Amino acid sequence: MNRIIQDKEILSVGELSERSGVAISAIHFYESKGLLRSTRNSGNQRRFNRRELRVLGYIKVAQKIGLSLEEIKYAFKSIVNKERPTVNDWKKLGKSWDEVLTKKMKLIEKMKSQLGYCIGCGCLSLKDCPLRNEGDFLAAEGSGPRLLLDDD
Ligand code: FES
Repeated sequence: MNRIIQDKEILSVGELSERSGVAISAIHFYESKGLLRSTRNSGNQRRFNRRELRVLGYIKVAQKIGLSLEEIKYAFKSIVNKERPTVNDWKKLGKSWDEVLTKKMKLIEKMKSQLGYCIGCGCLSLKDCPLRNEGDFLAAEGSGPRLLLDDD
């Protein structure tokens, strides 16, 4: 069960892990990639400002919806004041994901509506393949499920 860490501005890596639900090893990894910021206390232990919970929250949700670490890292570059991001910084970050999230939402919608039908993958295994992809003519457009992917 999670301990409540309210009233603490500075957190140990264990507290950050416990509250965020992100493994300590992942926290160290994100820190090594420059996504999280920490300081050291007098005993040379990492200490994190409570604000890093928000960064971890964004990373966790972004990964759940399929954004790569590179996309997340790129979006975080839009934050001007890394020490103390403002509401506007977070809004700007959200805005920077508009395009990629819209593309992902379209793909999810396509998948939901078309996965029971021919997706143009080249297998020709469904009854409607000859109607939608006769002789696998879609292979000429490229690899993968041509009726689901928009290569751009
Ligand atoms: S489902 Fe694979 S080509 Fe139609």
